[in-house]
Order: sequence, then C-alpha cells, then structure tokens
Amino acid sequence: MEREQIKILQIEDNPGDVRLIKEMLKESRRIEYIFEYVDNLRSGMQRISEGDIDVVLLDLGLSEITGLETLKRLLSSDMAVPAVIVMTILDDEESGINAVRSGAQDYLIKGEVDPGLLVRSILYSIERNEAKRKIQRANDELEEKVIARTKKLSETLKSLEEEIKIREEYERELKIKDNAIESSINPIAMGDLQGNITYVNKAFLKLLNYDDKEKLIGRNGTSFWQAMNEAREILEVVKKGESWEGELVVKKEDNTDFCCHLAANLVKDKSGNPRNIMASFIDISKQKKAEEALKKNLENIKKMMEASFRALSAVVNLRDTYTGRHQKRVTQLTLEIAKKMNLNSEQVSTLRFASMVHDVGKIRISSEILNKPGKLSDLQISFIREHPIIGRDLFKKVEFASPIAEIIYQHHERIDGSGYPEGLKGDKIMLEAKIIAVADVVEAMSSHRPYRPSLGIEKALKEIEDNSGRLYDPQVVDVCIDLFRSGEFKFEE
Ligand SMILES: [Fe+2]
Repeated sequence: MEREQIKILQIEDNPGDVRLIKEMLKESRRIEYIFEYVDNLRSGMQRISEGDIDVVLLDLGLSEITGLETLKRLLSSDMAVPAVIVMTILDDEESGINAVRSGAQDYLIKGEVDPGLLVRSILYSIERNEAKRKIQRANDELEEKVIARTKKLSETLKSLEEEIKIREEYERELKIKDNAIESSINPIAMGDLQGNITYVNKAFLKLLNYDDKEKLIGRNGTSFWQAMNEAREILEVVKKGESWEGELVVKKEDNTDFCCHLAANLVKDKSGNPRNIMASFIDISKQKKAEEALKKNLENIKKMMEASFRALSAVVNLRDTYTGRHQKRVTQLTLEIAKKMNLNSEQVSTLRFASMVHDVGKIRISSEILNKPGKLSDLQISFIREHPIIGRDLFKKVEFASPIAEIIYQHHERIDGSGYPEGLKGDKIMLEAKIIAVADVVEAMSSHRPYRPSLGIEKALKEIEDNSGRLYDPQVVDVCIDLFRSGEFKFEE
C-alpha cells in the first residue's frame, strides 16, 4: 500500500550525519517524511516505545555503545520495534551485513547514501518489516491454535480415561453382582423379553432337579409353569415394567410339580431401556402342605365345636323344651340380623355358637321357677338373673370360647345400664350381645310360654321400637324390624 506519510527516527550522535539525512529526505516529493532524531540509544528506545515510528535509522557508531551490540540492545526490548536500517562507516560494511542477519531490515554506508537510495531503503525496510510481522502474527496464531488443539486433545484424552475408569468400575460391579447371583441360595433365573431363559443360577438348577444349565438355557420360562395362560399373563405384566409377585405351580425335570413363590421384574440398562427379566423363586411346597394340614385341623375343630354346641343345646332342650326351642329360634333371628349388618364370618360363627346356648345357664334353675305362672318373688327373680353368669362360667375356661362366654354373660345387659348381671352401658356391651338381646326379646314376647300366651310379633316389635336407643341398640332394632316388616324373615317352628 502506498504511504503518504512516514515517521522516521534517526539515532545518531553526529549532527552532520543528521543534517545530511534530513536534507536528503526533504527532496522527496511523493511522500511526506516526518523526521525526528535523538543522539543516544536510551532516548531512541523511549521514543520508539510510543509506537508511532515507522523506520529507525540506527548509527552503529554511537559514542556510548558501538557495533552490533547497539542493534541487539534495541531488538532485545519487549516493545514492537519498527523497521531498522543501520548506518555504518565506509570501511565497516561487514557490520551492516551482520546487522541484517541479526534482525535489521537494511544497512546504509555513510558517505555512499544518496536521496534515491535512502528512500528506496526506507520503503523496502518498511515492507520487509511488515512482511516479517505478518509472518510473526501468523506464527503466533498458529501457535495459539496448536495450544488450543493440544488442550482440547488432552481434555478428550482425560474424559476418555475417565470413561474407561467408569466402565471398568461398572464391569467390576457387574462381576460382583454376577458372582452374588450365582452363589445366592435363592433360585434365580433370567430371560429375554420373550421369556426365553438366558441364565439360571446353581440354586435354580437344584430347585428343578436339573444337573446341567445347558438343558435350561434357550427354553421358554413359561414351559416350567403349569398354568400356561397365567404364565403368559405374568410375562406381559413384567414386560410393561411392573413387578409380579405370587404363587405358581412349577414343573421339575421329572415332570412332578410343586408350589413356588415367584417374584419377577424387568431389568433395565443404564439408559432405561428394558434389558431382560429377572425371576427369583422360593419353594413353598412344605409351607403349603403345613397350611393345608392346619386348615384341615381347623375344620375338624370347627366340626367338633359344632357337635359340642349342638349336644349342649340338646341337653338344654331335654331339661326344658321351651328354653331349647327359644334358643333355636333366637339363633335363626340373630344370624339374619348379623348377615344384614355385614358382620364378618368369624363374628357370625361366634354369634351362632353363643346364641345356640345363650340360656344354657338356666339348666341350674329349677323348672318350677322357670315355668311359674304369675309374679315371681324377688328371690326367684334373683335366681333367674344368675343364668348369664352360670352360662359364662361354663365356657370361661375354654380358651377359644372366651368371646362366646362374654356374649352369653352380656345378653341381658341394656344400653342405659338397666340390664343385668352387671348393668353395663352403651359401648361397654359387645355388639354381638346387643344383637342377641334384641332377638331374645322378640322371640320371647312372640312365643307361647307356660305362664302366658303369645303376645304376638307386632307387640314384640313395638317393644323394641319404643325402647330403641334406650334399652336396645337402634341399628340392631332397625334391621330387625325391617326383616319382619319386609317379610324377609319369620320364625321357623
Ligand atoms: Fe336369657
């Protein structure tokens, strides 16, 4: 690019040489030269540091420092040095050549310089210096790029090393897990998403009586489960990502089957994709057999209880036909009320036994008192009022019958506390006793007695309706009245 203005700094301690250069530059018409000079290197370097000088004419024969040292000192500074032309004396051209080798752009020999040569040298030096700077800048950029690339590469290398470390750690963990599964006492099998077996541990082989894993690998897991349809359903559930737990019948190698508890779930990889299905088994055949035996025992006990209570009820019937019949009919009504009130099967069973023998205590009271027509004396009443206590005492030592004993004991209690034998109130009375109390009154009033004719069902229902909430539990009363009024219930003979 053509320059219009060039700033020149001459470092020269010979005023004649300064004047000479200045004069020569004046002759130039094309370019404006702004000329400055200093007579020592230090001042020169200070001026250069301001950054606007284009060319330096440097005398290698300064009085303070001479020869190549002058140039070296200048170039060794940190600042951006402009183009440098060294000036040598006539018989020291060699210094000029060495100066160019050491970083100067050109040299001029004092006494041989003419204006044309000076201007050419200046322009040439500026161009050369700029080219040098460009190369320097390109080098610097390249170096920066290399440094950045190297940094990135070492970062990539580092993250790769970390990735390898994580993978190794993961594989180590996987190996530990694999070992744990293989040596686990729990039978474990793994399969693909179609249920084909891909792995079984030693415990699983033992569970199914196999001697070789290869006999199982590749077979479909559902073929070991007796209920094929159920097995396929389980597979579908697990494939959706839900776990499945329950009992299954599983086939052994010899085709015999046994009961197992199975827990199956979907195993996902690190990114959450389904990988395989894991199933662990527990042989519960012994437990199942024990459960069945227990169930059978319980049924036997229930049968024995039933027989005992029937026998007891028959004894009451023998002793006193009225009481026997009354207990049977109270049981009918009690069970209907219990059913309507949604009592659980255990409560219903207890209630059934209790109502069957609720007046069993009366076998200790003489028939004379029980069947006496007309008013009873206070003493006779107090005898009769002992029958719930006698009834309870008959059962209280039989452990499983303790709720039955308590219901019998409470069946004449009333919710306002006016009942006997204890005068219990409200919640202190068992619901089962409250139900028998209502059924007891309704049956007694609607039946013939040796000492009086039947008062009729309507009168009996009026009695419980009038005293609902005071003597009798309102909910039980409502259910009982509804049973009769709807025609849903009537006493069998
Ligand atoms: Fe009674």
